[in-house]
Amino acid sequence: MSIFAAVTFGAAVFLVIPLEASPVTNKKFSNQPNNLAPLTFRADGTFQVSIFEDLHFGENAWDQWGPQQDINSVKVINKILDKESPGLVVLNGDLITGENGFLENSTVYIDQIVGPLVARNLTWASTYGNHDYDYNISGDAILERERSWGNSRTSPMASGPDAGVSNYYLPVYDHGCVNEHTCHPYLILWFFDSKGGFKYQQKDASGNRVGQPNWVDAGVVDWFSRANRDLTKRYGKTIPSLAFVHIPSFASYALQEAGVDPNKQPGINDDLPLAPQAQGWCPDGRNDGTCTYGAQDTEFMQAISHTDGLMALFSGHDHGDTWCYKWDRLLPDMDVTPTNNISLCFGQHTGYGGYGNWERGARQVKVSKKGLEKFQATTWIRLESGIIVGKVSLNSTYGEDHYPDERLQMAACPTCDY
Ligand SMILES: *[C@@H]1O[C@H](CO)[C@@H](O)[C@H](O)[C@H]1NC(C)=O
Ligand SMILES: *[C@@H]1O[C@H](CO)[C@@H](O)[C@H](O)[C@H]1NC(C)=O
Ligand SMILES: *[C@@H]1O[C@H](CO)[C@@H](O)[C@H](O)[C@H]1NC(C)=O
Ligand SMILES: *[C@@H]1O[C@H](CO)[C@@H](O)[C@H](O)[C@H]1NC(C)=O
Ligand SMILES: *[C@@H]1O[C@H](CO)[C@@H](O)[C@H](O)[C@H]1NC(C)=O
Repeated sequence: MSIFAAVTFGAAVFLVIPLEASPVTNKKFSNQPNNLAPLTFRADGTFQVSIFEDLHFGENAWDQWGPQQDINSVKVINKILDKESPGLVVLNGDLITGENGFLENSTVYIDQIVGPLVARNLTWASTYGNHDYDYNISGDAILERERSWGNSRTSPMASGPDAGVSNYYLPVYDHGCVNEHTCHPYLILWFFDSKGGFKYQQKDASGNRVGQPNWVDAGVVDWFSRANRDLTKRYGKTIPSLAFVHIPSFASYALQEAGVDPNKQPGINDDLPLAPQAQGWCPDGRNDGTCTYGAQDTEFMQAISHTDGLMALFSGHDHGDTWCYKWDRLLPDMDVTPTNNISLCFGQHTGYGGYGNWERGARQVKVSKKGLEKFQATTWIRLESGIIVGKVSLNSTYGEDHYPDERLQMAACPTCDY
């Protein structure tokens, strides 16, 4: 399916209306849910994240095909973790295909997803995607299931009527840090909830599911700006950071329109145009099919592109896009001018559920204490077959550096019904 990708933005007028920020308060939280040890760099001064995204577990539970896809997806996770040694796994949205879920057991798939992580004593942190929100499933329900496992670091920090769930940050400390109160973080990982999908257990007068806004809430953006200011003040410096959100912002769309060069932004670029936040909504908040894009992600884009030290934002959602693009200028149809040259990256579709037959895999992100002095990160995609593609350095010349041609990898899946 590519109904999202089929929508055209070309002719749309991009109105930006000031949004009323919904009240967002700080939730009581612990940065060490379930008493986990702090995240730390390895003894060699590096820290790596493996991103599994668009896992889409729980499709067609009632036939043979669906459960077979989940078995295939578990194999992908295992194959990748046999080759990579992350300090943290990020589950970057669409863990479950919620529209196929039954109320009484829609979140049980979490156990299958985290099995390979628990077996390796790995911890993980999630963002939730549009398919994680539906009539029979919600971010809160997934969180509850996740937190029944001691290894989940997903710990919501912002609450409010439209905040969603997976908004929080995780500090990463130096090797050997045992007590986070006495250590200074070398890296901050930010997680955002781009919501979307449908509201839990709600139907309208005609019996239809009720759509949920598909952008990072303006109140969450306020929370982020405050929390980031507080961290900078508390530690007396800009701490390098990375961010994760399921649905990319409109800036990714605008960069794609500007042209993706396979030798400068290596990766698949098949979802063209890509589907960004606020797609299908009107600027006035209607989502009745009359608008292509409502620009409600403007506050989010403004914040991420003006945060010193924020090196990259990683998204999923568009299974057919896997590139990283440095957002370093004002783009057509937008009025946000970035000041931090943030890289906007897609990962690789990991699960056998969900559309598309590009080879399954997972983006890896690695930083070193030395590289962070220059706000640099290295990233690559580990494919299910074991090979690495799209290895790039997100450094000051990313976007100018020339990378070699790579062959597009497609999956061989006899049980898939593409
Ligand atoms: C929600 O779950 C209930 C109970 O299992 C099921 O009967 C119903 O079909 C599901 N509804 C939707 C919209 O998925
Ligand atoms: C979930 O519940 C449905 C309906 O009660 C059942 O058909 C299905 O097998 C259950 N799925 C799992 C994974 O337990
Ligand atoms: C699992 O990891 C924790 C630290 O995160 C460590 O304390 C514990 O010893 C590890 N357990 C095993 C079996 O490796
Ligand atoms: C961002 O990139 C532009 C164009 O590549 C460059 O001129 C500018 O100096 C960079 N700014 C920062 C803060 O690195
Ligand atoms: C950035 O990384 C690329 C690829 O490793 C390298 O060729 C280039 O020289 C680097 N740029 C800087 C400024 O270090």
